[in-house]
Amino acid sequence: MFQTRHVALLAVALSPLYSHGETASNALVRATAAVEAAAPRAQADSTRPIFHITAPSQWINDPNGPIFYQGFYHLFYQLHPFSDASGPKYWGHVRSRDLAKWEHLPIALAPSGEAGETEVWSGCCTLNGLGQPMIFYTSIGPDKPAFDHADQWAAIGTDDLVHWQKSPANPALSDATNDGTKIYDWRDPFVFHDGNKTFLVLGGSLNESKGGQAVVNIYEAENAGLTKWKYRGVLFQLPDADARTSECPNFFKLGDEWVLFVSPYGKVQYFVGDFDATTCRFHPRTRGVLDYGPNFYAPNTMLVPDGRRLVWGWVNGFPGGRGWNGCLSVPRLLSFSRDGQLRQNPAPQLEKLRGKETGWNNVILDSTAATFPLPATNTLEIAMEIDLQTASRVSFSIPNGGNNSQVTLSYDGLELQVMDVKAPLTLPKGDRKLKLRIFLDRSVLEVFANETVCVTKTIAPLEPGVSLAIRAEGGQARAKQIQAWPMKTIW
Ligand code: FRU
Repeated sequence: MFQTRHVALLAVALSPLYSHGETASNALVRATAAVEAAAPRAQADSTRPIFHITAPSQWINDPNGPIFYQGFYHLFYQLHPFSDASGPKYWGHVRSRDLAKWEHLPIALAPSGEAGETEVWSGCCTLNGLGQPMIFYTSIGPDKPAFDHADQWAAIGTDDLVHWQKSPANPALSDATNDGTKIYDWRDPFVFHDGNKTFLVLGGSLNESKGGQAVVNIYEAENAGLTKWKYRGVLFQLPDADARTSECPNFFKLGDEWVLFVSPYGKVQYFVGDFDATTCRFHPRTRGVLDYGPNFYAPNTMLVPDGRRLVWGWVNGFPGGRGWNGCLSVPRLLSFSRDGQLRQNPAPQLEKLRGKETGWNNVILDSTAATFPLPATNTLEIAMEIDLQTASRVSFSIPNGGNNSQVTLSYDGLELQVMDVKAPLTLPKGDRKLKLRIFLDRSVLEVFANETVCVTKTIAPLEPGVSLAIRAEGGQARAKQIQAWPMKTIW
């Protein structure tokens, strides 16, 4: 569906990042041509992930507007179509029938220069009460700087979610909506429902100097078309004094609990507790970190037809100059463990991407490294169940293409270490089991440990044909099962 537009291709070399007053439809044509022109180079790059969502080329950041609609999983994402570095943002678009195979769709949103907009920032996609697909996003322009004067805009979509028109009622929300409360870095709308009410949350800070007072603000819809919103105040203020803001809030019910995700310019935090829809206040009881890696940010969630919820994050930290930059994490299925911890599992549909299994059972591990030859590729999934038994630590290593570098993991019963990243991971009393799912997708490493601790990191790709080495220190451990699969592309 990503058609070539030869005429526009010619214009790309000459085109500025945005031109003053340009209509959204012109901007779309230029952006499409720029992405197509960069695609051959990006797609030939041997470090580019194949089973994590990327744009056909160029820079991407946050996943936007995940929605399951009319038989398809749709995902949008922040796209800078004119280079593989960050710049003015558009919305790219992909969809899938089964969460395993994906297709690129035309760029969904471009800035409406004629209306003073130069960037289309993050947001959500929902159906309004009239049955229309609607995107809410943060609108940026020369007169609408992100720090202190952004608006929230809406667009109405066709039923296939391919074509979008900016709402004539824009701005959907503006400073005036906030009843005199000045909110800085006010952005990233996320719509949710409770009973027959529709709410929207937005991140921001009440403090101009950017210290503390990071808040999630809540609004209630006043009409079915979702064009009128009432400010209901601060849903929640982040307790951390150093939290500068609360980007990309997601607020949703999971089982009997309410969960809030926020991206505070640092590791993504989650809070779990109760929501009082009358007072519009959130009372969290527990909190945690969604991913301990340095390269996971701005996650966004999707409610799927069976009532479950998936999350994707933005994987960042790639070197520039390759015609592409950034991808999304694998889809993660959210639930709670029996002891109330937030659980994240790779969506089961990813198993469709597995090739032929290589496996080992019941291997005793000690201080001599046991080696397991991996499928000869650098796009892999490795699943392991290790019983630590009497060992004080179990360590794993896989050589990769860096200078004598390796992908390393270790666990001592208290802390998981993935290369230089440390994450607390405790075990129930009497339990010594470590369950790992490790995804290696060329330059992306995504680790799931005991279904509760995730670490995402960019790496140098493996050299195909390497072995996994495992050793146990201070005693003996047992690898109950080790499985490895080559992973196929999602495209
Ligand atoms: C998070 C973020 C959002 C913003 C978008 C702009 O990474 O800063 O707050 O809407 O990226 O691309």
